[in-house]
Amino acid sequence: MKLSQRAKVMTPSATLAVASKAAELKRRGVDVISFGAGEPDFPTPPNVVAAAKAALDAGQTGYAKPSSGLPSAKEAVCAKLERDNALVYDPSQVIVTLGGKEALALAFAALLDPGDEVLLPVPYWVSFPEQVQFFGGAVKPVVPRSGDLRLTAGEVAAAVSEKTRVFVFNSPSNPGGFAYSPQEVREIAHALEGRDLVVFSDEMYDQLRYGDRREHLSFAKVSDAWYARTITFNAASKTHAMTGWRLGYAAGPEPIIKAMARIQSHTTSGAVTFAQPGLVEALTGDQTHVETMRVEFERRGVLMASRLNAIAGVTCTEASGAFYCFPDVSGAYEKLGVRDSVAFCEAVLEAAHVALVPGAAFGMDTHVRLSFACDTKQIEEGLSRLARVLS
Ligand SMILES: Cc1ncc(COP(=O)(O)O)c(C=O)c1O
Repeated sequence: MKLSQRAKVMTPSATLAVASKAAELKRRGVDVISFGAGEPDFPTPPNVVAAAKAALDAGQTGYAKPSSGLPSAKEAVCAKLERDNALVYDPSQVIVTLGGKEALALAFAALLDPGDEVLLPVPYWVSFPEQVQFFGGAVKPVVPRSGDLRLTAGEVAAAVSEKTRVFVFNSPSNPGGFAYSPQEVREIAHALEGRDLVVFSDEMYDQLRYGDRREHLSFAKVSDAWYARTITFNAASKTHAMTGWRLGYAAGPEPIIKAMARIQSHTTSGAVTFAQPGLVEALTGDQTHVETMRVEFERRGVLMASRLNAIAGVTCTEASGAFYCFPDVSGAYEKLGVRDSVAFCEAVLEAAHVALVPGAAFGMDTHVRLSFACDTKQIEEGLSRLARVLS
């Protein structure tokens, strides 16, 4: 049976691969500590669960009408974007999707013609290059020179060209665990000024920022000109501990959002109807849980970075956003007799029963990703094991 070229170029998600390998070892009775999770270890807030239950009880089980999102959900998205991001959108500029992932996929589908260039900062979230290639685009990775992994405006200016159709900006970053400051966002926007491109601003972790990086500037807020050229992506997944609900959204120029909605109407028919009142509650109801999670993540991030930096051959910048540490472990390759991040992670899983995600999946083969969306005991024990095998 013949598979399409498109299907053949798509590789399985490395993050999910690590999670299933660790789960398989656990099934066999091995005491594995996994730092692979890309989701909060908190339950969805009860008021959000109650909203979806009530929708089910009220019989909201038909197709969502319109498929691009219930009017109440779009209004909730507008309210959230105005409250947290100072961005004013009309519901006609909003689409509600099956997780942030669908929103991004629809936008690439709506904008890319074969060969169109997409500027992608490294390290990148695993699905970006896969989605771009799936929809026929050409990925142009941009590698930061600085060890803290944030791109400078100069690096962006040197990489952008008249062929660039899309610039992907993800702050706070998965896997980098860093957040750009408002000034850095402005400088990068300035470096792109005058270019005929659209910015995909992935702000999935906008509420999870730490230390002196608490202030978030949405790319679309930089200027009216950038508002007109930016799609802002977000989801309930990370901020509200709702990864399994599959609720995401995007807001941006109406013609693009409309094109995305047309594609969505013929592919998925949109987000689950009775889940959408959960999105309304998550975005506009009590927000206490967001700060509770943020404070706890910040504490764990500090602990994880300090434990990592105490290990020979490992260097890690303290996370300023999201819930990931992304240390450079290449100084420890020799110790384990390996030459790349995949072999490093395999050796660590084998010898220490600790699951990490290889940096190769994010375009950086000298690093590994550890999620700190897990309890403190697990961080202590996992990093003690890692320290032992690398000592
Ligand atoms: C940077 C980034 N963008 C998008 C997504 C997709 O989120 P969702 O689970 O809502 O599809 C993720 C999830 O891992 C992410 O980390």
